[in-house]
Amino acid sequence: MEHFTTKAQLQQFLALQSAKGKTIGLVPTMGALHNGHLSLIKQAQQQCDVVVCSIFVNPTQFNDPADLEKYPRPIAQDIKKLEDINCDILFEPAVAEIYDNNEHWHLNIGPLEDLLEGKYRPGHYQGVTQVVHKFFDLIKPDVAFFGQKDYQQVLIIRRMIALLNMPVKLIMCPIERETDGLAMSSRNIHLAADDRKHALILSQTLNKIKQHFDINNIPALKQQAEDEINSKPGVQLDYFAIADGETLLPANKNSKITIALVAAKVGHTRLIDNMIIAG
Ligand code: PAJ
Repeated sequence: MEHFTTKAQLQQFLALQSAKGKTIGLVPTMGALHNGHLSLIKQAQQQCDVVVCSIFVNPTQFNDPADLEKYPRPIAQDIKKLEDINCDILFEPAVAEIYDNNEHWHLNIGPLEDLLEGKYRPGHYQGVTQVVHKFFDLIKPDVAFFGQKDYQQVLIIRRMIALLNMPVKLIMCPIERETDGLAMSSRNIHLAADDRKHALILSQTLNKIKQHFDINNIPALKQQAEDEINSKPGVQLDYFAIADGETLLPANKNSKITIALVAAKVGHTRLIDNMIIAG
């Protein structure tokens, strides 16, 4: 595997690949790689000639400095995992390689920015679009792979691509789960044993709502979900939404896709999950 830490090295190598007519796939990550990340890389390997995985804990998308501070960074293990699945390129830049000191970024993404995650993490999606825009610009991938786990992130990046006419195709990959249903996340390692058990209420409730979904009964279903999640010790619900899959506004009879999304603090760890429940 090629391991680059500078833009210049990466671009030089990619220019050679493009000249040979190779297609480039990009899987952006913040590291602490798990099978969810690896599933994106495998999907990229099936569709592209050369696969770049980036590992960059992007400071501008963290609204809570403590969260940034404690974000796991097991780089040696990550490198091993990438080598084991034959990833072609790891791009692992330092913060100063990506950001100047006095940089300003704002992209008008519209109402999606302030809903759900945006409401609880002000500025988060400006930071996400800022870094993903930089990576698209630098790497010029033909295809970029993102997980449904961060569904709102997918919608926002799709919107950025459309707004800026960026020549990249976005593919959304399914959520990888532990055998008991917990959505894989780099943050799961922070869960104490009890919290790890209580966290299952999130995927269990999503499943239940999917089974009982009825467009005429959304307020009652939402209430039931909220009550069930709130009844677990140590679990503090931020939101449970049953939303239109394109706008993330409340689902309605015309919604082509209906999705349930949940965010909660479990112990000290904030988790998110979602499930497409219709469409
Ligand atoms: P990170 O949280 O590391 O996630 C990297 C990619 O892996 C995202 O597209 C995310 O949706 C996907 N992913 C995470 N858990 C997954 C799971 N259980 N199943 C499938 N895919 C999963 O998302 C980010 O980093 C950052 O915001 C980033 C896009 C890299 C910009 O900094």
